[in-house]
Amino acid sequence: MNLYKSIFILAALALAGCATKNYGDEKFHLQMATHGKDVMWVPTKVEMAHEMLSVAKVRPGDIVYDLGSGDGVIPIEAAKKYKVRSVGIEYNKDLVALSKRNAERAKVSDIVEFKHGDIFVEDFSQATVLTLYLGDNLNFKLMPKILKMKPGTRVVSNTFRMESWVPDQEIRISNGEVAYLWIVPAQIDGLWHFTGLPGMESIQLQVVQKKQFFDGSLSQGARRTIHFEDGRIRGHQIQFEFVHKSKKYSFKGELKNSEIVGYVNDDPNLRVVAKR
Ligand SMILES: C[S@@+](CC[C@H](N)C(=O)[O-])C[C@H]1O[C@@H](n2cnc3c(N)ncnc32)[C@H](O)[C@@H]1O
Repeated sequence: MNLYKSIFILAALALAGCATKNYGDEKFHLQMATHGKDVMWVPTKVEMAHEMLSVAKVRPGDIVYDLGSGDGVIPIEAAKKYKVRSVGIEYNKDLVALSKRNAERAKVSDIVEFKHGDIFVEDFSQATVLTLYLGDNLNFKLMPKILKMKPGTRVVSNTFRMESWVPDQEIRISNGEVAYLWIVPAQIDGLWHFTGLPGMESIQLQVVQKKQFFDGSLSQGARRTIHFEDGRIRGHQIQFEFVHKSKKYSFKGELKNSEIVGYVNDDPNLRVVAKR
């Protein structure tokens, strides 16, 4: 057993009281929680579940997925508090059964579903909010799949980060526990043709994307090239700044139907469109 798993088992024993405070019941014994496949069960505290859903700004129409859903606390709280459809994927059949009983007790079985399965096999691409309490390594293993999810999907991880993907937000709750939020960025890497910039016709925008950040250059044929750094992508929203003839410009727009559409310097007369 590796160090990581041992730490989790110690944590689980320490949290045994907490587990019952969450959603354990008379049919569930803690020994049943040890068969977790990649990591064993340690429950997210209800307070933290609320904070995670709050930082994800859950709203009507969202579909919340919790990967490795344990006793179901996050999907159940999402359904109770926000009345949104929620799904838990869990490998341990005893925990799946417990979470279904918990959903019934909470009277949300009509909008909450628990699937028995492996998070590395099951499809969760429908999610608009994805919650995790797994571990740095498992988050990292899931990262390529998460980055291909719909732009704007909010991903919240209890305690653990996702190596090389800087969180968009960090939250710390009153007891010192921490969670991280990432917003899946639109994929805009590559070459775009801009029209609408006054005095700058037929501009090419070359984007070099690194998750939610990008560097880029604007060029006009073989003429002058303007380089910029620190472009930001938040879901579909795109923004960057550049300097042209000693003047500072900012662009704010969004990816819509395969086009980047937006405004320069928030000026409604300076509407620009970029196509691949
Ligand atoms: C730390 S617990 C978190 C439980 C729940 N998400 C929460 O926040 O309360 C991790 C859960 O992932 C489950 N798990 C581990 N590996 C899994 C896998 N490959 N597929 C599905 N579930 C898995 C474990 O059984 C455990 O319930």
